[in-house]
Amino acid sequence: MVSSRFVGAILACALPVFAQPSYVSHPDRQDAVKEAFQRSWDGYYQYAFPNDTLRPISKTSQNDRNGWGASAVDAISTALVMGNQAVIAQIVDHIQTIDFSATVPGSESVSVFETTIRYLGGLLSAYDFLTGPLSEYVTDQTSVDKILQQAISLADILSVTFITPSGVPINTLIYGADGYAVGDDTTNGIATIGTLVLEWTHLSDITGDDKYANLTQVAEDYLLNVRNPDVGEPFPGLIGTDVNITTGLFTDSSGGWNGGTDSFYEYLIKMFVYDQDRFGEYRDRWIAAVDSSIKYLASHPTSRPELTFLAAYDGPGDLSFVSTHLACFDGGNFILGGLTLDNQDYVNFGLDLVEACHATYTATVTGIGPEVFYWQDNKLPANASNNAPPPSGSSDFYTTAGFWIPSGAGDYVLRPEVIESFYYAYRATGDTKYQDWAWEAFLNINSTCSAGVGFSSINDVNAPGGGGFTDFQESFWFAEVLKYSYLIQADDAEWQVNAGHDNKWVFNTEAHPFLVKGTPI
Ligand SMILES: *[C@@H]1O[C@H](CO)[C@@H](O)[C@H](O)[C@H]1NC(C)=O
Ligand SMILES: *[C@@H]1O[C@H](CO)[C@@H](O)[C@H](O)[C@H]1NC(C)=O
Ligand SMILES: *[C@@H]1O[C@H](CO)[C@@H](O)[C@H](O)[C@H]1NC(C)=O
Ligand SMILES: *[C@@H]1O[C@H](CO)[C@@H](O)[C@H](O)[C@H]1NC(C)=O
Ligand SMILES: *[C@@H]1O[C@H](CO)[C@@H](O)[C@H](O)[C@H]1NC(C)=O
Repeated sequence: MVSSRFVGAILACALPVFAQPSYVSHPDRQDAVKEAFQRSWDGYYQYAFPNDTLRPISKTSQNDRNGWGASAVDAISTALVMGNQAVIAQIVDHIQTIDFSATVPGSESVSVFETTIRYLGGLLSAYDFLTGPLSEYVTDQTSVDKILQQAISLADILSVTFITPSGVPINTLIYGADGYAVGDDTTNGIATIGTLVLEWTHLSDITGDDKYANLTQVAEDYLLNVRNPDVGEPFPGLIGTDVNITTGLFTDSSGGWNGGTDSFYEYLIKMFVYDQDRFGEYRDRWIAAVDSSIKYLASHPTSRPELTFLAAYDGPGDLSFVSTHLACFDGGNFILGGLTLDNQDYVNFGLDLVEACHATYTATVTGIGPEVFYWQDNKLPANASNNAPPPSGSSDFYTTAGFWIPSGAGDYVLRPEVIESFYYAYRATGDTKYQDWAWEAFLNINSTCSAGVGFSSINDVNAPGGGGFTDFQESFWFAEVLKYSYLIQADDAEWQVNAGHDNKWVFNTEAHPFLVKGTPI
């Protein structure tokens, strides 16, 4: 019998192969990103460690991720790719001491999703690097082994949340004096259900114990094979948001590429990148979702029809012309899928999405894009009930920008998605304009969000100075913004995304790189 991998190799030869671009290294820009990383880390380490998050202006800390040192664990894979020996050592020392069986007072409610992408993701990525190409940074094998032990102990604790009638997990685990109690949630969302499978499958592959993969794949099956498609699958491959934990049935028909649904789609193709032998079904579902998105959700603003955004939906007949900073990962994800499947149409559509997200940055006073934005679709009649023009105060802005920012939704919380998509666009094309876009975005964030002893979220990207600070430095600032800002300017390396269909590493949704299955070290 011919193995599927062998057939894949024959097919790959018959398909067009993208030329490998040549990449430009910018040591001066790398140093500037490293400076920002070091400054953020020093502020965190001096004023917040071993708590989760730095409040850089008040020089205090917050335990918003259960008190296990979220910023430290989230920073480790960035410290590794930057080669920051001192910070790597500080974080590896910290990981040895974490007690995942207890939380700090006031932070007892654990999100399975957030804990998986930040903590489990950081631990597994560190383990891959330290048992692989970056093993020089930690020579004590016992410390490296302990990183994996910590990942196992965390997943073992979280596993109880999958014990439900359907196998769809409950996203909330509440720590108490006498043990753990799952939350009383009756539904879970497709992003929180569907953004566990990469981390937990990787843990199973490393340990040889299938139980972690099995739990998350049983849950994922309700999303891959929708049991009530009349409600749960309004377009082929594009599904609803919430799933009943008792039955596994969808409870609504709304969705798109925004928060709450986003990384479910992201992981469909990333599972295939992770293991092309096992995850063909995930690839097929990604193709269905992407084809439907291009056919039904692609939308162009009346004032700038050259821009392409993806609409949201509530059932097949009801589109909303709203998108978000979070959704701007979509361009990068279409590009990754296009490269992996040798499909230039997906790459090109992804580049269009990247272009439009870039426009959300260049239009504002700070040069940083907003959390939420709206536009008026140029195909629907202007008087359609779901296609309102901007409020009068925003019409001049809309005329030149192609979007407007709803009142109170112009904040920027140190999110990565726009720079993340610049990264994929650059790695796919080698076009240095994407490096320049990432550099400009970094400079704007550096000049607007530098605050106190680190960086802070801001209130309004379209006000001078960002309209004030929230005094909060999210852990994904370390994991994602600084990593993508650095890698796009850095030398080529095996963990960099390449322009072919055979990446050796795949980044989880928190930008922690994992070694794909079967890669020789
Ligand atoms: C960390 O948080 C605890 C409360 O859980 C607090 O007592 C301690 O002072 C904090 N440490 C730092 C460095 O902020
Ligand atoms: C996964 O779990 C199901 C249900 O308990 C079981 O039937 C199946 O054998 C398990 N598969 C693996 C690979 O462990
Ligand atoms: C979930 O399904 C159960 C069993 O059919 C039902 O009793 C419950 O009301 C449903 N919950 C939601 C939120 O739809
Ligand atoms: C929209 O405008 C068209 C003409 O421009 C008109 O025929 C139609 O009735 C209007 N629809 C609504 C919902 O107002
Ligand atoms: C980033 O901001 C810091 C603090 O304001 C500044 O010292 C540094 O020069 C900035 N980096 C660049 C490349 O402008």
